[in-house]
Amino acid sequence: MIQTVAVIGSGTMGNGIAHVFAQNGFKVTMIDISAAQLEKAISTITKNFDRQIAKGALTEEQKKSALNNISTSTTIAAGVKDASLVVEAATENVEIKLKIFKQLDEAAPADCILATNTSSISITQIASVTKRPQLVIGMHFMNPVPVMKLVEIINGYATTKEVTETVVELSKKLGKVPCVVNDYPGFIANRILMPMINEAVYSLYEGVAGVHEIDTIMKLGMAHPMGPLQLADLIGLDVCISILNVLHEGLGNPKYAPCPLLVNMVLAGKLGMKSGEGFYSYSTGSKDLIVSDRFK
Ligand SMILES: NC(=O)c1ccc[n+]([C@@H]2O[C@H](COP(=O)([O-])OP(=O)(O)OC[C@H]3O[C@@H](n4cnc5c(N)ncnc54)[C@H](O)[C@@H]3O)[C@@H](O)[C@H]2O)c1
Repeated sequence: MIQTVAVIGSGTMGNGIAHVFAQNGFKVTMIDISAAQLEKAISTITKNFDRQIAKGALTEEQKKSALNNISTSTTIAAGVKDASLVVEAATENVEIKLKIFKQLDEAAPADCILATNTSSISITQIASVTKRPQLVIGMHFMNPVPVMKLVEIINGYATTKEVTETVVELSKKLGKVPCVVNDYPGFIANRILMPMINEAVYSLYEGVAGVHEIDTIMKLGMAHPMGPLQLADLIGLDVCISILNVLHEGLGNPKYAPCPLLVNMVLAGKLGMKSGEGFYSYSTGSKDLIVSDRFK
């Protein structure tokens, strides 16, 4: 029975993961190396609860009790000592994750399940630095976590059936829909999404169509809620490249190599929404979708 959860990292994904656990009655400790980030995360979670209240999806009472379920810590050892599950959502960097999992293995109770929210790093590699690879699993939430229904659950090479079943049942308790996959580069979500985004960038690079046309065709023709270029801007073009590189290196097929235009944009610092420009231009406070001057 999972009751006490620790979430490592309180950035975009970590605060969303803590939010859904706390809302569903779990005690959650959010752990980050940055105290300022933890403060910011609590304020983001509070704002997101308020948004749910405004929509009639949550009461003031429920918000109060959910916030009471969350505590914070800046040290892993203190934060995970009573946890029955840890969900790691720290920066997507292999050295950082391997170091965290070594620490978790030493500090968490022996039967604690260690999950990672990684988008692309091998679960089997992460598990290999612990003495409990059978208890290590991928629990890939989607952004924004309180809204998105899917949890992609990734079995590492040694993950046991019992651990998978526990995490599947737990995801259902969070109101999510779990889908179990195996540990190969990009899993399923990114193995299919990233080549689509890369192909959209190739189509632009080769002059097949413009930004607006490519996104409109995929939105209206395929009923996607947003076009692939807009989605790339939202994810971050640097993140897209690093996942494509994982696919390219891990599967050894040139079809996954990032398009030269995508590479140039990242080298030029055009990372999408977070840098203010990608395929579109973003100005603070505006929700208008304006194609970047570079592609007009
Ligand atoms: N952003 C997305 O859309 C998305 C979607 C699915 C999965 N993911 C995955 O989720 C994870 C987190 O991504 P994010 O977008 O929330 O990143 P982020 O940069 O917003 O947050 C990462 C947080 O980890 C903290 N951190 C770094 N090292 C740490 C350590 N040693 N101990 C504790 N905290 C540490 C940082 O201070 C930061 O607050 C990554 O593995 C990413 O691939 C991201």
